[in-house]
Amino acid sequence: MRKTALFSPYTVKNVTLKNRIVMSPMCMYSSHNEDGKVQNFHKTHYISRAVGQVGLIMLEATAVQPQGRITAQDLGIWDDAHIEGLKELVSELKSYGSKTSIQLAHAGRKATVDGEIYAPSAISFNEKMKTPKEMSKEDIHDTIQAFIDGARRVKEAGFDIIELHGAHGYLINEFLSPLTNKRNDEYGGTKENQYRFLKEIIDGVKQVWDGPLFVRVSAHDYHEDGLTAEDYVTYAQWMKDQGVDLIDVSSGAVVPASIDVYPGYQVGYAETIRHGANIDTGAVGLITSGLQAEEILRNNRSDLIFVARELLRDPYWPRTAAKELGVEIDPPKQYDRGW
Ligand SMILES: Cc1cc2nc3c(=O)[nH]c(=O)nc-3n(C[C@H](O)[C@H](O)[C@H](O)COP(=O)(O)O)c2cc1C
Repeated sequence: MRKTALFSPYTVKNVTLKNRIVMSPMCMYSSHNEDGKVQNFHKTHYISRAVGQVGLIMLEATAVQPQGRITAQDLGIWDDAHIEGLKELVSELKSYGSKTSIQLAHAGRKATVDGEIYAPSAISFNEKMKTPKEMSKEDIHDTIQAFIDGARRVKEAGFDIIELHGAHGYLINEFLSPLTNKRNDEYGGTKENQYRFLKEIIDGVKQVWDGPLFVRVSAHDYHEDGLTAEDYVTYAQWMKDQGVDLIDVSSGAVVPASIDVYPGYQVGYAETIRHGANIDTGAVGLITSGLQAEEILRNNRSDLIFVARELLRDPYWPRTAAKELGVEIDPPKQYDRGW
């Protein structure tokens, strides 16, 4: 059989993915009882992509605190009561040969839930959204602890990989970017200080989690006073020193901005960080064909390919990409006769 990079295995720590395809985290806003719990929809949705032979299924942004939800229908992991549903889902996903991950998240100033919302500085995202409370040291401490408790629950649910959501203008990103972090204590003002919140989350999570750890970043703020991929090379070097295994490279959504999107528009950032910080990266953003994915991997621009919307349109996208690349992949055995 022809060898392709897209269908070659990828090993990180004790976890081996059967191919380089990752289901990119996508909020489904389907926890309809507003209690953060897994519903039947989540099972159907994620398991379909595991049947479709995705190497790594990453669950959507999952809130570590109720106030950290983007909407009241987000998945949650702030309570031990969330473990059971996640555990059942993980076990099903694994039975189809997929590895499993979950994105731990806090929406910060982009939360739309009732009550007070939190951010490094009291600046709203736009005039329609609430003005957040500037977090006190105690708030910061409690939120870091919520990420650690979330990681412990992830372990109990049996996931293989944790991703921290440090992108898209949510809480961690709000600390990292000077556009949203105007603090003048040890959590703001300098790059080291802007990094401190994420640093303490990573250190804390690693106390309870020794599996692979990914971090998603927004590698460009699309604003003249904001951060660029070069700034994220420095952050990625620090993350690597702390034992982060892979940077999942997205961009934008920190402040309102117009973004010029085109196929692979964020791949260059994944490449810059990969070579600049000598760390594995994931590329994401308008990657829709097998050939495009193969080009990215073969030219050493990233190590994994995250696919979002194309997997909504085609849950069996790995099969589509394999056909395009002229290789065969195994179906689940029940589908042998029709694959
Ligand atoms: C419905 C939907 C929900 C999303 N939710 C998340 C999320 O929970 N976490 C995240 O980091 N990105 C989220 N994203 C962004 C995707 O993961 C991905 O980065 C983006 O859609 C670009 O990739 P694509 O061109 O393959 O869709 C979401 C995107 C979509 C379309």
